[in-house]
Amino acid sequence: MTDHESLDVLEAIHSTPARRFLKPDPIPDDVLWEILDAAIRGPSGGNQQGWGWMVVTDAEVKQQIQDWYLEGWNRAYGGRRDAIMADPDGGGLGQRNFLSAEHLANHLAEAPVWVMPVLRNAGSNARAGSSVYGAVQNLMLAARAHGIGATLTTLYAGHEDDVKQLLGLPDDAMTMGLIPLGYPARGRWAQPKRQPVDEVTHWGRWGEQRDRPAAD
Ligand SMILES: Cc1cc2nc3c(=O)[nH]c(=O)nc-3n(C[C@H](O)[C@H](O)[C@H](O)COP(=O)(O)O)c2cc1C
Repeated sequence: MTDHESLDVLEAIHSTPARRFLKPDPIPDDVLWEILDAAIRGPSGGNQQGWGWMVVTDAEVKQQIQDWYLEGWNRAYGGRRDAIMADPDGGGLGQRNFLSAEHLANHLAEAPVWVMPVLRNAGSNARAGSSVYGAVQNLMLAARAHGIGATLTTLYAGHEDDVKQLLGLPDDAMTMGLIPLGYPARGRWAQPKRQPVDEVTHWGRWGEQRDRPAAD
């Protein structure tokens, strides 16, 4: 293994938020291989591993896909910028998140490496993604161990066919995300903010909830 931070697995899980401010500094190849090798240890239905892991570093290719991503961003969020920034809750997204996602939308191509997991023959199976997202989380945690930030993104997807053509993907392939990787330029390895675990957990039957005992 190359040099990396030795992190307890739970500590890593609790300190890996989306990192959207990334430096353009290169990621060494041996580190990238290690991150990919961690990703492919993830689960897939029947261990079919119907995936491929596209590594994208070409500046022109990244710029083209960033333009498509930006279209998706503007359609989903950017077009509502004034309303979101006027809302203390940031349109449900939170103003901070909005600003960091806006930054990524405008600087995506600057991330030195993108990884795009691709699934073959996903068809119309609504759960197809479940055969890759565990691997994606492995990828992001392995990146974390190397001090490399990542975000799972999908806003380019309005141009799925264009992306497939640009990357020479087979007809039966579907992109499952675009993960920009890079050393963080801003922000911290803070705990991701979520609804409390006891509010989203149901015991035995939907609606049966329990308070979580306080830790010792
Ligand atoms: C299916 C999926 C699609 C996502 N797409 C995007 C995206 O296109 N752009 C982006 O900036 N973040 C995207 N995200 C990241 C989420 O916004 C992020 O996981 C969420 O805000 C929690 O962030 P945190 O872990 O930093 O708290 C996506 C996440 C998932 C699971």
